[in-house]
Amino acid sequence: MAIELELGREATSSVSTITEIAEYLRGGGGKRIRPSLLLLAAHTLGYFGPGAIRLGAVVEMVHTATLVHDDIIDGADLRRGRPSANTTWGNEKCVLAGDWLYMRAFREAMLEKDLNILDLLIGLTQKMVEGELLQIQKLGKAVSEAEYYDLIDRKTACLFAVSMRLGAVLAGASEADEASLAAYGKAVGLAFQIVDDVLDLTATEEVLGKPVASDLREGKATLAVIHSMDHGTAADRQTIQRVLDDRSFEHVTREQIQKILKHNGSVEYAMAAADHHAKRSREALASLPDSEFKRALLWLADFVVARDK
Ligand code: IPE
Ligand code: IPE
Ligand code: MG
Ligand code: MG
Repeated sequence: MAIELELGREATSSVSTITEIAEYLRGGGGKRIRPSLLLLAAHTLGYFGPGAIRLGAVVEMVHTATLVHDDIIDGADLRRGRPSANTTWGNEKCVLAGDWLYMRAFREAMLEKDLNILDLLIGLTQKMVEGELLQIQKLGKAVSEAEYYDLIDRKTACLFAVSMRLGAVLAGASEADEASLAAYGKAVGLAFQIVDDVLDLTATEEVLGKPVASDLREGKATLAVIHSMDHGTAADRQTIQRVLDDRSFEHVTREQIQKILKHNGSVEYAMAAADHHAKRSREALASLPDSEFKRALLWLADFVVARDK
């Protein structure tokens, strides 16, 4: 894919550490969902120019930069099935490599000579950084659903929405079409993060390629856990709070938590919420003309919910 070539071109610096880390990150693969969204948004509205490749690489670089910083913050040792960059190069170098990647992305975006595009990317990055900070503030706490949705909007859905918006901007879309595509991106992004959070509770590390059961160990209550805390017994609540307080499964096992989620139907609840947002995302596309690209977007909404990694 042309985006892979573009990402390769952008991974070099005169400082060897940066080139090494950037090359390592690029080689790690990943699902490339965000550039796919951007391309499909642009194509749905009839734009097939080179800007979509460039901005596709930009959103993937922004995503990668947030992952580098996220793994440092979360102390995660695995990403995309390989040791995370922070375990190989250490936190100090990786903070800087993440910063470098952000700026590399912005410089590439500047080539479009459109302040509207830069404005979208800057607003997005601020919102994502605020999201990570808010998350840190809420660690160990039993957050409400509303707080949870605000967090996942910032962490994930806004990048999905901006990827769609950038595709629309390239295509010179009407405000209404841009808003429809952005609404799709936001809803798919919410579904995506809800599923990511469910997989953290239910998947295995081999399949996922990143640590599992890590959210609770990091003191993060995600949708299924919030549901059990809101609807379970007082004992359920205490058991979950213990893990959030301990930041470990030392006193309460992962199996105990899974049992609590099971008897409260909490995983089903979270998956139903993901389904609901996927459905809303498909509805957001109703006014756009039918095409193979629109059909791919409709398919992607289901893929996001059905995926196992
Ligand atoms: C991981 O995103 C971070 C979240 C928003 C959950 P992806 O699951 O898209 O990561 P890669 O790029 O495929 O590794
Ligand atoms: C998503 O949060 C990270 C960002 C989008 C910044 P998570 O912490 O849940 O992501 P994973 O699970 O590490 O991929
Ligand atoms: Mg993380
Ligand atoms: Mg996660």
